[in-house]
Amino acid sequence: MKKPYQSLEVNITNNMKKVIHRKLSKNILGLGLIILLVFTASLSAQEGDPAKGKSLFNANCAACHQLDKKMTGPALRNVEARLADEQGLDRAWIYDWVHNSAGVIKSGDAYGNKVYNEYGGAAMTAFPQLSEKDIDDILAYTAEVKKEAPAAAATAATGAQTGAATGGVSNELVLGALAVLFMLLAIGLFLVNKTLRRFAEAQGVELPEETKRMPLWKAFVKNQFLMLVSAIFLLLAGAYFIYGYLMQVGVDQGYQPVQPIHFSHKIHAGDNGIDCKYCHSSARVSKTSGIPSVNVCMNCHKSIYEYNGETSAEYTKEFYDDQIKKLYAAAGWDDANQKYTGDSHPVKWVRIHNLPDFVYFNHSQHVSVAGVECQTCHGPVEEMEVMYQHAPLTMGWCIECHRTTNVKVEDNAYYEKIHAELSRKYGVDKLTAAQMGGLECGKCHY
Ligand code: HEC
Ligand code: HEC
Ligand code: HEC
Ligand code: HEC
Ligand code: HEC
Ligand code: HEC
Repeated sequence: MKKPYQSLEVNITNNMKKVIHRKLSKNILGLGLIILLVFTASLSAQEGDPAKGKSLFNANCAACHQLDKKMTGPALRNVEARLADEQGLDRAWIYDWVHNSAGVIKSGDAYGNKVYNEYGGAAMTAFPQLSEKDIDDILAYTAEVKKEAPAAAATAATGAQTGAATGGVSNELVLGALAVLFMLLAIGLFLVNKTLRRFAEAQGVELPEETKRMPLWKAFVKNQFLMLVSAIFLLLAGAYFIYGYLMQVGVDQGYQPVQPIHFSHKIHAGDNGIDCKYCHSSARVSKTSGIPSVNVCMNCHKSIYEYNGETSAEYTKEFYDDQIKKLYAAAGWDDANQKYTGDSHPVKWVRIHNLPDFVYFNHSQHVSVAGVECQTCHGPVEEMEVMYQHAPLTMGWCIECHRTTNVKVEDNAYYEKIHAELSRKYGVDKLTAAQMGGLECGKCHY
């Protein structure tokens, strides 16, 4: 049985525990609330993703805006804070402006009209397709602190990647293996020779004096077996090289020439998400894709006068900036005074993909009609720091794909009809390019 004072003690401590407990849970609740509040506040203060914003900015705005320099339009660094502090305008105003600046101006908006007149009545493009989230991302990018000469961190090991494209077993490897084999053979022969000698001595066989003390090369020449092995080795090595040389004729897979301007598809099509067809605009509608003229480059590069993206030990910011200067030299663009000098010349890009003249190949037929992705034939272009030929471009390559690729029957009345007929007559359920005549010599050869 418990003593009464004991149970009282228990009660008191229990109650104290309860009180402490209640207090604690209240405090925790309060703390949690505060943390939640701070968290949501910080979230709404910087909800945009600056990395996404950067590519959106580069793809949509960079043709007219720079972060730190007046271009066709005002410099946009910290534009949200600036408009809020100086004009009392909020983010909603920026949404409206970007979606349809002409509408804002027409509505009689005071600041809209002021800045419009300041920029000589230059009209900003309307971007109804950009969501408010997209604009948040762009604003997050413009609110980033300016980077001072980014360290040439050896982060992107892109250079190494491109080398892998050449593929195949390297000559060095095969040569090395052969050399090792040869060495082993020589050592083996030396050992056999030595044991034979010892054996002969033990048997009391008298060896001629000259075989005992012969210079190595003389022994080598005298040894018919060694001579034979070397001759075979030389013949094999020679055949290997001649074969390798012959196999390269006509096949330029992996061909990667140095271009007059180091143009990175990784930076343009990859990091900044610029559509292939922005530059290779004729791929959709004509036989060739074409290389863009410097005018196309200058649409963006009037305002993009320096590179601020990722760099590596091999490709530094200075290196990239020099490339943009080369573009300016070709375009005859005087960046300091923001005008053309008239002294321009075309860039002499080295052609990489090139079929023989007797072959007919049509881009629009493959890209638009067949709906084949550029990457199916050209490889991971958006990862290429330096462009190279991905596919072999041999006849076998074309034919293999025509045998295996179905043509796009959907949404094509012509094919749907043929397809229906074929499946009725022959019971085929697929329609490959080959069945459409894609293996006929005359389709590809003039
Ligand atoms: C075709 C050129 C052009 C493009 C592209 C363009 N702008 Fe503009 N932008 C202007 C011009 C010019 C002005 C100055 C006002 C005017 O003349 O309409 C301006 C003004 C602005 C302003 C007001 C800035 C200030 O300081 O008053 C903002 C914000 C803005 N642009 C954001 C953007 C964003 C974001 C994009 C990309 C989604 C973009 N602009 C794309 C030309 C352009
Ligand atoms: C900003 C402009 C631009 C964009 C975007 C672009 N390219 Fe290019 N492309 C060029 C230039 C300039 C060259 C010539 C220099 C070179 O070969 O690197 C070229 C060369 C090529 C070549 C080799 C041409 C030859 O000589 O055989 C291929 C293939 C190619 N691009 C495919 C693509 C694909 C696929 C995309 C989209 C993923 C793309 N390009 C996006 C500008 C661009
Ligand atoms: C749609 C806009 C756009 C077009 C068109 C464009 N560029 Fe660029 N270019 C960019 C952007 C964005 C960057 C990266 C800037 C950064 O990250 O700071 C860049 C970077 C560069 C660089 C430095 C990196 C590198 O690739 O070596 C060079 C050089 C360059 N561009 C050349 C060209 C040439 C030549 C053309 C025309 C064939 C061209 N650009 C067309 C947007 C464009
Ligand atoms: C079915 C395979 C295939 C597809 C898909 C394809 N290409 Fe090509 N591309 C080729 C071949 C083959 C050549 C060489 C053509 C020649 O020498 O006549 C070539 C050449 C090029 C060239 C060099 C200049 C020229 O026009 O000949 C560029 C640039 C190019 N392609 C870009 C693109 C782009 C961008 C896309 C996607 C929109 C694309 N290609 C889709 C196979 C393809
Ligand atoms: C990635 C697959 C692929 C590769 C590689 C490819 N083709 Fe095709 N090609 C197609 C498809 C799919 C069609 C059917 C297009 C259509 O719907 O008409 C086609 C159609 C054609 C046609 C039209 C055939 C007809 O019936 O009118 C020609 C010509 C042609 N290709 C030539 C070539 C040549 C030359 C090459 C190699 C340099 C090549 N193609 C490589 C997929 C390919
Ligand atoms: C789908 C397209 C296509 C079809 C169909 C096609 N060829 Fe070719 N042919 C090519 C291409 C591409 C080359 C170039 C290969 C190269 O440069 O290595 C070529 C090269 C050749 C060559 C030159 C030899 C060589 O390898 O360089 C001959 C000969 C030839 N083709 C004959 C034919 C005959 C005969 C037919 C019909 C049975 C035919 N081709 C059908 C695409 C085609």
